[in-house]
Amino acid sequence: MDSKEIRKKFLDFYKKRGHTVIPSASLIPENDSSLLFVNSGMFPLVPYLLGKKHPEGKRLTNSQKCFRSDDIEEVGDMRHTTFFEMLGNWSLGDYFKKDQLNWIFQFFTEELMLDPKRIYVSVHRGNKEKGIKKDTESAEIWKKLFQKKGLEAKDVDFSEKKGMQGGRIFYYDDKKNWWSRAGVPEDMPVGEPGGPDSEVFYDLGEDLKRHENSPWKNKPCHINCDCGRFIEIGNSVFMEFLKTKSGFKKLSQKNVDFGGGLERLAMVCQGETNVFLGDLFLPIIKKIEEISSFKYEEKARSFEIIADHIKAAVFIIGDEKGVSPSNKGQGYFVRRLIRRAVRHGKQLDMFSLSWTKEVAEKVIEVYRDVYPEIEGNSEFVYKTLEKEELAFQKTVEKGLKEFAKLKEKKVIDGERAAFLYQTYGFPIELTEELAKEKGQKVDKKGFYREMEKHKNLSRELSAGVFKSGLADKKNKTVNLHTATHLLLSSLKKVLGESVSQKGSNINTERLRFDFSCEKKPTEKEIKKVEDMVNETIKKGLSVKKEEMTIEDALKSGAVASFKEKYPKNVSVYSIIDEDGSVFSKEVCSGPHVKNTAELGRFSIIKEESSSAGVRRIKAVLKEKDKN
Ligand code: GLY
Repeated sequence: MDSKEIRKKFLDFYKKRGHTVIPSASLIPENDSSLLFVNSGMFPLVPYLLGKKHPEGKRLTNSQKCFRSDDIEEVGDMRHTTFFEMLGNWSLGDYFKKDQLNWIFQFFTEELMLDPKRIYVSVHRGNKEKGIKKDTESAEIWKKLFQKKGLEAKDVDFSEKKGMQGGRIFYYDDKKNWWSRAGVPEDMPVGEPGGPDSEVFYDLGEDLKRHENSPWKNKPCHINCDCGRFIEIGNSVFMEFLKTKSGFKKLSQKNVDFGGGLERLAMVCQGETNVFLGDLFLPIIKKIEEISSFKYEEKARSFEIIADHIKAAVFIIGDEKGVSPSNKGQGYFVRRLIRRAVRHGKQLDMFSLSWTKEVAEKVIEVYRDVYPEIEGNSEFVYKTLEKEELAFQKTVEKGLKEFAKLKEKKVIDGERAAFLYQTYGFPIELTEELAKEKGQKVDKKGFYREMEKHKNLSRELSAGVFKSGLADKKNKTVNLHTATHLLLSSLKKVLGESVSQKGSNINTERLRFDFSCEKKPTEKEIKKVEDMVNETIKKGLSVKKEEMTIEDALKSGAVASFKEKYPKNVSVYSIIDEDGSVFSKEVCSGPHVKNTAELGRFSIIKEESSSAGVRRIKAVLKEKDKN
């Protein structure tokens, strides 16, 4: 069964059970500063899990593009990838544990025809302190489901210490069986939803050779031990809790958030034990074999890193809100992915220039039917990859020679790591990886201190932007969001109607807005835009929200920045001027302020080029003028 069929079967299965298929959101979060990339199918649905009414109803399903930067270092273990597709289904205050577990088991065993004997599950052990009950309810549901397949399923506890004990249902604590965008309860910011979950594992077989000499050799095997035998193929999160200042509170509704990685399901359905041998990777691996003089088996890890990283880079650069390599934020990850791939390319004797493009062509071929945006943006993807590859190819060789000179050192000090970064473009993580291969350490703190001296990168790094920590949501982001709408309208009025949104990113400090514009706006024009936004704020115009179909929204003249990506029913936010004319009208999921008077003073702090034909504005809101 190929991945196309699995994807289709999943969506059809849930469609038959009353779910609406919604499109995959962009990989780059819109107006959400909590994470740099969308890391799960639920990410764009957070407001609805918290209780907002979704225009498509209470049952949703989709296949969502995801990127998990945390897993960059994990690639090469046969099961982790940074970019992946997540098949998801959601109940927004509708069905709960019983239907969810019944359906997902039915889907796995009757649609994908997975052998129930090879399926094992986990449930939450409970935590009295946090007021979370041991999830015996799910355990009982699972027992019945296995029983129907003629299997007696025992629930056992403490398999981490005692091993499998003949069980099929296992209890684990928060570390394994709690899910939220931010991870375990302790890492969740106030206002974030989460809940205990129940994961489904597939038994790949006891005889996996890689157990030999592994750190797990003499430890008890259990479904979460990561030795290679079991792989998680799906996770049903019972999202019914909200983190508050004083602990956990029940949400106003009980939600289900299911996510299952398509690449892993493809691997399992295709009888493989390594995701890179499934049909979403194999053609890419084969392509790399054509370019390299090595066979995959000879240098599997480098092959996997290249296949994963170039695929992820293609999806991020080719996204509707494409990001180019840079030294910060999302761009830093794109740079890191490409440079790490190029470095591993060297280990595979891939010296021909522009090989990244050849690999990217294959990625696009594999995905063009499902994600047409990467084909539509293919020229931009190829050019961006080529440019980054060539720039790094020029220095990587010299940098590696420089690194080799440090072989006597136990610790690579901050100054040297900073030198490798500044002179040869080695991301700190690359220096760390090289050091690790040689049994050396890197003084990372010293590196940041050094970089602080040169001001760059470091502020962001120490602020934890590269960790996937969630920032607390503040009113400020809502204010900046409304200001963004005023900005787009003002830009259109000053520079012409052809101006369109190319990207928007808001955090608690500032808004960043990319827009199409052939030539650099003059200072005067920028000042005019700023003044226009401030006048609108001063007038105290109300912000009106309406629900309608996307067709009606477009007919009514609402601006929709990503036309092809909207669901059938959308929200439209309008700001009507004093004379009754429409100042701004946009299709948008919100939230926004009620009145522009809430915003304070708007100030453009920077206007610059972002890429060819795209300008970028950074702006802030200051306290209201006191007069
Ligand atoms: N959102 C569920 C998961 O990622 O496992």
